[in-house]
Amino acid sequence: MTDLTKLEAELTARVGAAADLAALEAIRVEALGKTGSVSELLKTLGRLTPDERREQGPKINGLRDAVASAIAAKKAALETAELEAKLAAERVDLSLPPPPERKGRVHPTMQVLDEMIAVFADMGFSLAEGPDIEDDFHNFTALNFPPKHPAREMHDTFWLPEDEHGERKVLRTHTSPVQVRVMQRLNEKLPSWIANGQEPPIRVIVPGRTYRSDSDATHTPMFHQMEGLVIDRNIHMGHLKWTLDTFISRYFETPVVETRFRPHHFPFTEPSAEMDVKCDRSGRDVKIGQGTDWMEIVGCGMVHPNILRTCGLDPDEWQGFAFGFGIDRLGTLKYGMPDLRDMFASDVRWLEHYGFSAFQAPNTATGLS
Ligand code: DAH
Repeated sequence: MTDLTKLEAELTARVGAAADLAALEAIRVEALGKTGSVSELLKTLGRLTPDERREQGPKINGLRDAVASAIAAKKAALETAELEAKLAAERVDLSLPPPPERKGRVHPTMQVLDEMIAVFADMGFSLAEGPDIEDDFHNFTALNFPPKHPAREMHDTFWLPEDEHGERKVLRTHTSPVQVRVMQRLNEKLPSWIANGQEPPIRVIVPGRTYRSDSDATHTPMFHQMEGLVIDRNIHMGHLKWTLDTFISRYFETPVVETRFRPHHFPFTEPSAEMDVKCDRSGRDVKIGQGTDWMEIVGCGMVHPNILRTCGLDPDEWQGFAFGFGIDRLGTLKYGMPDLRDMFASDVRWLEHYGFSAFQAPNTATGLS
């Protein structure tokens, strides 16, 4: 074996045995570095005769190439092994089941609101809104509540502290003030979402938050109402009855509903009535459209001429009817929730149970979405 082949065998054996990249680098420097054994041999070529160089040149260059490629191959192998060791150490077990995902649910009040809007929209009603913080005029005076009349206290009103004009605003006790805002043309500049002065004929529903200082299984300090108002020529109680019967039938998804008007008093309607619906209250849930019990479901009546006059409409030309539903209450009746207060307790477990999928059509029975 020549010295060159011996050196090549020795170097490639050491390269092959290198345990890690640092050991390999040391061998590279020893062989191919500036003063390495192979580099020293290459330097000797300059001192040889042309014939010797022709013979020795390819051998020494071959040695250098063989050692360099052995180092490169070993380097790649060591790097791969290092990467594999790292991947094995940092392995993520993708077969583990992911932690459960919590999906948001649509609150029953919002679901019921969408369902109610769908039914009324189908009957040609449009939406109107008013402010939660209301003035005494819209909440009471314009609705025919006499000044200092106990009816103002009847609503368990939340009064706000006196403002700089000596005025005490209220958290609206009902959505009825929006009736006045819809009908009365006002000069003041209001935000565009607040209803303001529509010309009759009018057909609006007014959903919104309302407030009363009251709390038990069927009352909460904040709740939602939906007001309805229709103003036109020759409107009578038959129109009111048809509208409410049709709504109740579609909302509760029962073809047969029996209702009755019971005389009542509201300052803003004359005559006033509460409408009862025939139902079965023998079980845990109230079943609308069956049974022999009656249950109050909505306050209503013919709009009082004083309201029309206050809003600048001639009662001899225009008449109308109005009604006010409790939105949350309609939800508890349709979806069987025993306690209204749970609606606003923000208990996620309750919401997961009673909430709705965001992709559910508002009312499948009417085919509306
Ligand atoms: N505002 C009434 C209340 O909160 C409900 C109501 C009754 C509204 C009769 C009306 C109506 O529009 O005509 O108790």
